[in-house]
Amino acid sequence: MHPILLKMGKETVILAIESSCDDTSAAVIIDGVLRSNVTASQKVHEEFGGVVPELASRAHQQNILPVVDTALKRAGVGKEALSAIAFTRGPGLLGSLLVGTSFAKGLALALNIPLIDVNHLQGHVMAHFVEDGTGLPHPDYPFLCLLVSGGNSQIVLVESPKSGAAHMPQMRIIGQTIDDAAGEAFDKCAKVLGLPYPGGPWIDRLAKLGDAAKYPFAKPNLPGYDYSFSGLKTSFLYTLRDMLRERGLETIDQLAEAVPDLREDFCASLQATVVDILMRKLKKAAKDLNISHVAVAGGVSANSALRQAFIDYGKRYHWQVYIPPFAFTTDNAAMICQAGYFKYLDHDFCAIDEVPFAKTTI
Ligand code: KG4
Repeated sequence: MHPILLKMGKETVILAIESSCDDTSAAVIIDGVLRSNVTASQKVHEEFGGVVPELASRAHQQNILPVVDTALKRAGVGKEALSAIAFTRGPGLLGSLLVGTSFAKGLALALNIPLIDVNHLQGHVMAHFVEDGTGLPHPDYPFLCLLVSGGNSQIVLVESPKSGAAHMPQMRIIGQTIDDAAGEAFDKCAKVLGLPYPGGPWIDRLAKLGDAAKYPFAKPNLPGYDYSFSGLKTSFLYTLRDMLRERGLETIDQLAEAVPDLREDFCASLQATVVDILMRKLKKAAKDLNISHVAVAGGVSANSALRQAFIDYGKRYHWQVYIPPFAFTTDNAAMICQAGYFKYLDHDFCAIDEVPFAKTTI
């Protein structure tokens, strides 16, 4: 139990702060209902083709006050009304995490209210429990969650809360990537094609215009539920390299002029391969564990082909599938706030001297 007295008899107001990568986000949940979710995305990285950690930390520092202020205003509450502050403790970029962590600590100390640390990956799974007024059903326990983002590709087994807790579910990773994440594969391949950062949404857009069967890329053959995307990345790169060599060309732009629909077909083939790799392992896990409730989360869950695959697999294998609203796919504080709300109800607080962590599993 936290030494700070909980505010009794009042509504429960949780403020959450997410700053693990390049989005500064704040959200407010009042008595279990999401009241605001404000995100400032950093454009500064676009010209570098990837997130520059030093620039991300500085941008968080600039954005955090206005973002928190706006989140409180939109929720219609002042900071005095807060019951607790939740923050993303990791994994993520350490410099970015330090901004959110320090801000959350300072505010919690000033207001003399509890602090709640949230694992970013658990946060993504908790996106499925956010009460945002859309009435989407929440998954039943146990369920499997395919967690796919720029930094992670995992299959998480989510089970009812352990004894002593009543709200926050237990989570266990049963499979994960042994090298690149799915989002990383999308972003790196998009970069090779000369597409802007982040490349995932561009691949999604161009894939709609291409032939998914045109380039059969390599698929990994790993036992169990683990993933690998580095071989696919190499296969993608070598296919392009060989096409350039055959034609005596040097750049992707030259190749795109010589080969009609080059980028579209590469995007469609890559996307189909990634989705197939992800879904096959998920299907195996669902079958082996005899689980029929299956969810998807993380930035890559915004991908239209992956969302469609969930619907198709759901019909074919009689799964109840859970696909998050777009607003809760990429990094956002609403999901952190949901985890924070559950942990608050479970009285699961963290000490003021806890430090952020860059790497972890769930
Ligand atoms: O979860 P997220 O916002 O950040 C991390 O914690 O990593 O995920 C970002 C990743 C990026 O790799 C981005 O390219 C990918 O999600 N992404 C997509 C789509 N939208 C975002 N990948 C494929 N299709 C999309 N529509």
